[in-house]
Amino acid sequence: MGYKVAVVGATGAVGHEMLSTLAEREFPADEVVALASERSAGREVSFGEDDVLKVHALESYDFKGVDIALFSPGAKVSAVHAPRAAKAGTVVIDNTSQFRMDPDVPLVVAEVNPQAIAQYKKRGIIANPNCSTMQLVVALKPLHDRARIKRVVVATYQSVSGAGRDAMDELFNQTRSVYVNDPIKKEQFTKQIAFNVIPHIDVFMEDGDTKEEWKMAVETRKILDPDIAVIATCVRVPVFIGHAEAVNVEFSRPVAEEDARRALRTFPGVSVVDHRADEGYVTPAEIAGEDLVYVSRIRKDPTVANGLAMWVVADNLRKGAATNAVQIAELLCGKYLDRRGRAATTQRRTVTAVS
Ligand SMILES: NC(=O)c1ccc[n+]([C@@H]2O[C@H](COP(=O)([O-])OP(=O)(O)OC[C@H]3O[C@@H](n4cnc5c(N)ncnc54)[C@H](OP(=O)(O)O)[C@@H]3O)[C@@H](O)[C@H]2O)c1
Repeated sequence: MGYKVAVVGATGAVGHEMLSTLAEREFPADEVVALASERSAGREVSFGEDDVLKVHALESYDFKGVDIALFSPGAKVSAVHAPRAAKAGTVVIDNTSQFRMDPDVPLVVAEVNPQAIAQYKKRGIIANPNCSTMQLVVALKPLHDRARIKRVVVATYQSVSGAGRDAMDELFNQTRSVYVNDPIKKEQFTKQIAFNVIPHIDVFMEDGDTKEEWKMAVETRKILDPDIAVIATCVRVPVFIGHAEAVNVEFSRPVAEEDARRALRTFPGVSVVDHRADEGYVTPAEIAGEDLVYVSRIRKDPTVANGLAMWVVADNLRKGAATNAVQIAELLCGKYLDRRGRAATTQRRTVTAVS
């Protein structure tokens, strides 16, 4: 007997990858339900190589009997419907920013803090971090375990798929417009994205950070360690899929390059590709569709005491969103839910003891 799983936002960039990931990893689901807005009701979406699912409207959908729902319909929609699903007994794994900093909602990266899932019963919701935070903390965790990290300086190079389906279309259309000399239309981005880079993701905050930069700092602290200082500069680049990050880390004590490389190499979910030669590093175009976080260009940062620099690349739609959500669902099923989608008895005792 398997689980009943709903994918909310199934017609979107992340939802599409969630459906593929569930199928590829052979998630033990008896039934998968695709949900999106009223606009998409009746449309069909692919599930795996051979199956298609009819899309239902979220607004009128009754979650009773759904064990797990993977949400990515945007923060405002999750704000309304994730608690509604949780109230019906569904465990929600939410990809939006809505619940990430809620102290009663665990913010989980499967390889980094899987133990935090145990807190899910407070609200019935588990949050996935922002895609740029996700790949950063996977790369930082084995280093932090080796020598406490004091400070991180990160500049991101984020693909347009991080802003969804319509943003990918905008890059495509603007690129074509440049070639055929048509006027450039801007809808998703505030400046031209084709043949350009934009140091502005999400809204501006009072202190001058953008909200994306703020998210990277606060989410890293919630997941990894409240004492780590993070300063981010988040930049949108004309790449369709895959985020890259130039990361400078300051440790509390010296870490040799070779130690860092070994710690990263043996950490689950990380692949180190670091040859100091032509092609000896990873770029986004090479890793679209893959689930690992790739680390290259590991080297000493001699400008601070105990500094290290590295280049971190991952597919924002896969490990940055869908893969991590499905990994959390797998952990839930392995440890916290029984085959009928109910909280496993032994775990219920553990959870009570923890909370
Ligand atoms: N893209 C990434 O790399 C990434 C990574 C991590 C987290 N996220 C987060 O995931 C969420 C979705 O991102 P995305 O890139 O997949 O966006 P997207 O491509 O624009 O897709 C949005 C999805 O939400 C659905 N939706 C919109 N309004 C809805 C409503 N009122 N009721 C039900 N469904 C509704 C859309 O359905 P229709 O087709 O019917 O409009 C579509 O399926 C965002 O909150 C984003 O911040 C994205």
